[in-house]
Amino acid sequence: MFSRITGVGSYLPGQAVSNDDLAGRGIATSDEWIVSRTGIRFRHLAEEGETSSDLALQASRRALLAAGLEASDVDLIVVATSTPDYIFPSTACLLQSKLGNHGATAFDVQAVCSGFVYGLTIADKFIRSGSHRRALVVGAEVFSHILDWSDRGTCVLFGDGAGAVVLEASERPGILATALHADGAHHDILSVPGSVCGGKVTGDPFLRMDGQAVFKFAVRVLAEVAGECCEAAGVSPSDIDWLIPHQANTRILEATAKRMKMPMDKVVVTVDRHGNTSAASVPLALDEAVRDGRIRAGQKIMLEGVGGGFTWGAVLLEF
Ligand code: UT7
Repeated sequence: MFSRITGVGSYLPGQAVSNDDLAGRGIATSDEWIVSRTGIRFRHLAEEGETSSDLALQASRRALLAAGLEASDVDLIVVATSTPDYIFPSTACLLQSKLGNHGATAFDVQAVCSGFVYGLTIADKFIRSGSHRRALVVGAEVFSHILDWSDRGTCVLFGDGAGAVVLEASERPGILATALHADGAHHDILSVPGSVCGGKVTGDPFLRMDGQAVFKFAVRVLAEVAGECCEAAGVSPSDIDWLIPHQANTRILEATAKRMKMPMDKVVVTVDRHGNTSAASVPLALDEAVRDGRIRAGQKIMLEGVGGGFTWGAVLLEF
């Protein structure tokens, strides 16, 4: 038994916000700085009351429609998010309620920007075990809600959005290989080191990052974990049709492609228009490339995540 992606969907809230728009809001930055350091030109930002489950709902409906399924058909809902609606219940349960699904297994995965790759791997294992047959795997984030808008080193980098896939049991693969890793020794280079206690926020409720440490870590592990996945599946990197790494920075994407000896025209890039949408970035990019016809049935796709924790991972699949 294997698992296969049978439907993909995504959702971006509101209008695209440009770098100049951010500079116009009083952030001491410029389009030139942001584009040259990150490749980011636009991002979408959710409204104040708009939550991860709201964005997840729109992306999920589109993925279910693409798969030709109803919400009641899925028996597993996994939501990858670091910006959950509540402390509890899980965003997956809130999404389940909005979708009108009753009884499916539902839980969140917290692996920051690797969250979707973690969630997809977990769902693959549920399906391959025979316990579940149809999963909805979602990456949904409203990082704009946890940004310190006075910290120009972080607030220009992130955006909001959601992406979803339907993963179904199949006799034909599907997902060919997966690899997940973490090293909590690096927990402090990218974190939101706050919590709620006694009715108050304790610690710091905003995203903090050592950008250069994150950059170096990301480039190294993205190339390594892709190689590990290829080896596990017996697939050469040159056989990969499309590489979809976590969309954090075009320089990270370029360095990863170079290390993997892949031309940039095989890399799906959305960070220029979406910014870094954390767990949503990989399914958003996957959906874009499926809908515009770049990704076709039978092609080999490498999905990769890297983020806070530190966490990293990859999924190699045949579409
Ligand atoms: O999902 C993973 C999430 N994180 C990432 O992917 C981030 C990975 N890291 C990066 O992409 C880069 O490290 C950044 C884009 C975050 C920063 O680029 P950098 O080349 O490492 O710049 P820096 O932090 O060393 O800052 C260089 C200068 C500083 O000024 P001084 O001290 O040289 O005068 C900063 O204050 O750039 C300044 N700066 C800015 N200037 C204009 C920092 N942010 C901005 C800004 N606009 N938004």
